[in-house]
Amino acid sequence: MKIIRAKDYRDMSRKAANIISAQIIMKPDCVLGLATGSTPVGAYEQLVEWYNKGDLDFAGVTTVNLDEYRGIAKEHPQSYYRFMQEKLFSKVNIRPERTFIPDGMEADAEKACRAYNEIIEKIGGIDMQLLGLGHNGHIGFNEPGTAFEAQTHLVELTESTKKANQRFFASDEDVPHQAYTMGIKTIMQAKRIVVVVSGRDKAEILKAAVEGPISPAVQASVLQLHNHVTIVADEEALSCLP
Ligand code: F6R
Repeated sequence: MKIIRAKDYRDMSRKAANIISAQIIMKPDCVLGLATGSTPVGAYEQLVEWYNKGDLDFAGVTTVNLDEYRGIAKEHPQSYYRFMQEKLFSKVNIRPERTFIPDGMEADAEKACRAYNEIIEKIGGIDMQLLGLGHNGHIGFNEPGTAFEAQTHLVELTESTKKANQRFFASDEDVPHQAYTMGIKTIMQAKRIVVVVSGRDKAEILKAAVEGPISPAVQASVLQLHNHVTIVADEEALSCLP
């Protein structure tokens, strides 16, 4: 596990974007696993900036996102589909048909998950997976206790995750309770993994993920078993680590 220390959020975003852009330059037809949430936003902005300067080309890139709320339509302002359109896809030359996100409107969970697993298999797996870190140690929406063997599955979001998501919804009742998420097994099969972490509020869980016992109680602790993980974290997030 390699830890890259960044000064602050801006620096973390730049460093993470550098790693992602190196991946695209080295392998223009790469498969990127992408995350939503607030942490990767700065990195996406940086990638868009470099694209606008002519330094990056997304024409050959394929993306698979980690997760999507269940029961939320693509057009919903808080869908992860919409998030990705707004933050990245509509601003670069990626081909829309090469961007994949679980289908939140597929009510048949088994069907939705099987379809997503098949997509990931068909595109040949993930070259580089970008992850954020949840306050309870989740990666994707793999909540504490989930089996590490899981592939794409339906999750009941925990109270802490729903609480963290409240800020994006008009009222508490609007916060979704369920999501489809890529499983730990699939994440661990990515050739490289980049985790972005920012802020004092992530310091304890980052320490637990990096130094604590490998346990489904802290899903991100499984990353200790992957041989190509880079954590890009700012000083606040690293404040509990030496
Ligand atoms: C997002 C995702 C989540 C977030 C995590 C951190 O696609 O899968 O695991 O990465 O909840 O979210 P932020 O970055 O908002 O703190």
